[in-house]
Amino acid sequence: MMPATRGSFLLFLLLGGLCFAMIAYLPAPMQSSSGVMPIGKPVQIKAPLGLPPIPIPADNPPTEETIALGRRLYYDPQISIDGTISCASCHAPQFAFSDNRATSEGVGQKHGTRHAPTVINSAYSPLQFWDGRAASLEEQAVGPMANPVEMAHTLDGVVKRLQADPKYPELFKKAWGTDQIAIDMVAKSIASFERTVVAGDSPFDRFYYGHDSKAMSPEAQRGLKIFMSPKKGNCQVCHTVGKDYSLFTDDKFHNLGVGADTRGNLNDVGRYAITKKDEDMGCFKTPTLRNLANRGPYMHDGSFPTVKDALAHYIGGGNWNAHLDKEIHSLDGLTFDERDDLLQFLDALNGKLPDNIGPPPDSAKPAAKSSSAGKSSLLRSEQGRDSRRGPVFLVGCARAKSAAGGGVRAQHSQLAGSAAHFVQCLLQLVVLVGLHIHIKLILERFAVDRPTFNLQ
Ligand code: HEC
Ligand code: HEC
Repeated sequence: MMPATRGSFLLFLLLGGLCFAMIAYLPAPMQSSSGVMPIGKPVQIKAPLGLPPIPIPADNPPTEETIALGRRLYYDPQISIDGTISCASCHAPQFAFSDNRATSEGVGQKHGTRHAPTVINSAYSPLQFWDGRAASLEEQAVGPMANPVEMAHTLDGVVKRLQADPKYPELFKKAWGTDQIAIDMVAKSIASFERTVVAGDSPFDRFYYGHDSKAMSPEAQRGLKIFMSPKKGNCQVCHTVGKDYSLFTDDKFHNLGVGADTRGNLNDVGRYAITKKDEDMGCFKTPTLRNLANRGPYMHDGSFPTVKDALAHYIGGGNWNAHLDKEIHSLDGLTFDERDDLLQFLDALNGKLPDNIGPPPDSAKPAAKSSSAGKSSLLRSEQGRDSRRGPVFLVGCARAKSAAGGGVRAQHSQLAGSAAHFVQCLLQLVVLVGLHIHIKLILERFAVDRPTFNLQ
């Protein structure tokens, strides 16, 4: 009798505890929304010349509202723990959605070990990151938010921050049908925005797919032949060129010996960390070669400042190590003219980006914040590149001017920021002058016989 009563008492305790835990757990707003679908009408994102249709996951058809929301989130530093870092701090429109620093700087100026790859055309990658550890843009997007060296937040914290914002709940309601924000909605919105960041229609595309024989210079045309030829550049075995479109990547992982020392020791095991397969040692995802121009330094560790340096690595046959890809061998046979032609060809891969992928024009508060975060990150990189930099304002303006594509919007918000600064200064000046006159009047009235005390 006794053990039975004791047993049922224990069972009661256990069940009671379980119920309590469930009640405590249920009201958490962040959980249980993996199947959430946008409520708006799905839109088609048009692929430019030279690119295939953009793959869209069945559970996240892009809508006007989710894309706009994703764009806002992408440029909003509120997502990071201290409100200083947005996705655009490391994947900036003016650097072809990549970073001009070798390794990116996150919250508290912490550095990771890898270079930020471009977000351009990442919509086509079946696996995200240099080592392919994320299977989708949706999965990728939550990574940086909780990464201690990137945005250093918690996913719960991000949701709470957005929920408390005066604007976001309404925007989520329009996009997702509820103002109870969940992290999946955040990730899916950002992913839908990223699917609009596509670049094609370059001189190469107009030449190769548009059959415009003048679209590419004769040098670049010769460079294309070298790029394709197994006996010359042999580049296209990995940076694929297709009959109807070209992504310039095979979406596979290869070892070029980037980061290997003279004894063949690698600084990063790459894909091996995910698969634990010997053949993946030191392998990294083949990056696209589209819009290369502004996204250096190059390679997974940002060790090559220019495209020319990257080419020199191939000409030298990569860095020897036990796992070097069999397709990598010395290209010493290329003449200097052929090398130049190859560079001209790579330059012909710069295509125009869509207009509406810069910071959202209507987000006065977040845009001002992100522009200042952007400005400081630009300043940091500016410091690295040129220690003779001018005053903050001038650097901001010069940068805004040179910003390409979506950067026009950045220019907008930067100008808005400096206009606000100007008004602030003007107000301070008015107050100071007022104070000055006021004190003068007081002095004149009460200190007639103390003429030595002159404020001017
Ligand atoms: C502190 C800098 C930093 C921030 C902030 C950051 N990223 Fe990244 N991002 C990186 C680095 C570095 C990598 C490469 C990491 C790796 O491969 O291990 C990367 C990789 C990616 C990739 C993979 C691209 C590819 O070709 O594999 C995407 C997409 C991406 N980031 C999007 C985002 C989004 C969206 C945000 C904002 C939620 C964001 N990033 C915030 C630095 C950053
Ligand atoms: C065996 C496959 C392979 C071949 C052949 C190959 N590449 Fe690459 N390429 C890669 C991989 C993988 C990376 C990234 C490697 C890393 O970061 O460790 C890369 C990176 C690059 C980069 C830097 C891009 C960036 O975003 O950082 C450039 C430029 C480049 N390759 C150009 C070329 C050219 C030009 C050729 C022909 C001369 C060529 N590649 C041949 C696989 C290849």
